[in-house]
Amino acid sequence: MTIIVTGGAGFIGSNFIFHMLSKHPTYRIVCLDKLTYAGNLSTLAPVMDSPHFRFVKADICDREAVDRLFEEEHPDIVVNFAAESHVDRSIEDPGIFLRTNILGTQVLMDACRQYGIGRYHQVSTDEVYGDLPLDRPDLFFTEETPIHTSSPYSASKAGADLLVLAYHRTYGLPVTISRCSNNYGPYHFPEKLIPLMIANCLNNKPLPVYGKGENVRDWLYVEDHCKAIDLIIHNGRVGEVYNIGGHNEMRNIDIVKLICHELGKPESLITYVTDRKGHDMRYAIDPTKIHRELGWLPETKFADGIQKTIAWYRNNREWWETILSGEYQNYYEKMYGNR
Ligand code: NAD
Ligand code: TYD
Repeated sequence: MTIIVTGGAGFIGSNFIFHMLSKHPTYRIVCLDKLTYAGNLSTLAPVMDSPHFRFVKADICDREAVDRLFEEEHPDIVVNFAAESHVDRSIEDPGIFLRTNILGTQVLMDACRQYGIGRYHQVSTDEVYGDLPLDRPDLFFTEETPIHTSSPYSASKAGADLLVLAYHRTYGLPVTISRCSNNYGPYHFPEKLIPLMIANCLNNKPLPVYGKGENVRDWLYVEDHCKAIDLIIHNGRVGEVYNIGGHNEMRNIDIVKLICHELGKPESLITYVTDRKGHDMRYAIDPTKIHRELGWLPETKFADGIQKTIAWYRNNREWWETILSGEYQNYYEKMYGNR
């Protein structure tokens, strides 16, 4: 079994590679990643020398490179994590989001059609459903909730989802899609809420909370997301969408205060800053379908997951400090420049 994992040098993709190599020790995992600012090859150092792992630096929009890889590897499954993933960046510059998230998805699926594939899995997001009002805690996103996007990021992810379903209906491509809520855990790039707040706390820097900090996200420990995708690619029904979420809704301000408390830092570090444009109020997933069909349930409670995450950032200071200094971007040259 050979699986191409795109975007595997990023947060969730790297956690997925570690999960798959340990859970399925006979599988071959091939990571295709462009190493954008969000990709950090040093994250994959522990598996780089494994005979079951190969890393290829390439852009999913590069048809020639993608076709070459398919010719070489004859993958059974493709799991597409590669994406521009930060909402704030999409507000500043939407173009690259449309290119990578939509056109890159097309290139990958065209290769799947040309070379044949057992499964193409698209890693999507709950953000394609838009947001829910704060005063309706009875409402949740199901797979039937209409697509209703707010940001260029979520619009690009929704565009890709529609294209994936179109390739299934039109060409019979065996696809699945998962739409997950906010993840947290090790190797999370320190521009997203939780790792940014931990890093700033540890450096005694201000903690920038958008608006009033009342926005709600449904947090899932990254390992639970990886386990869900593992189940879907093996047992999920072709042509189906699966929501993944942990029924763990938290207000941003409560998360930031919790991190301050855990790290023994004063709440006076909290600084309220101008709100994000078009800021989604609340995300909340109904994961009934994946539970019923595949028996998936989140295993890590938020109270434990956040402790593990904070401990990881404390113990792996070098990982995020080289990111903050920009030094990690020289890693590829250093390791591969002369190979
Ligand atoms: P990330 O930004 O940490 O990593 C993205 C990875 O993709 C990086 O390694 C980057 O180098 C790579 N990449 C970007 N453009 C590429 C291209 N053109 N070609 C090849 N590689 C490219 O993202 P993440 O948080 O790990 O998210 C992974 C996927 O999961 C994304 O598709 C995202 O939409 C989705 N998702 C994320 C969350 C979350 O909470 N982080 C929740 C639900 C869904
Ligand atoms: P983020 O981690 O960017 O994920 P997403 O926007 O995809 O849900 O942000 C999570 C929440 O935290 C979101 O409501 C925006 C808010 N936020 C802040 O208040 N301050 C920050 O510095 C960041 C990065 C996010």
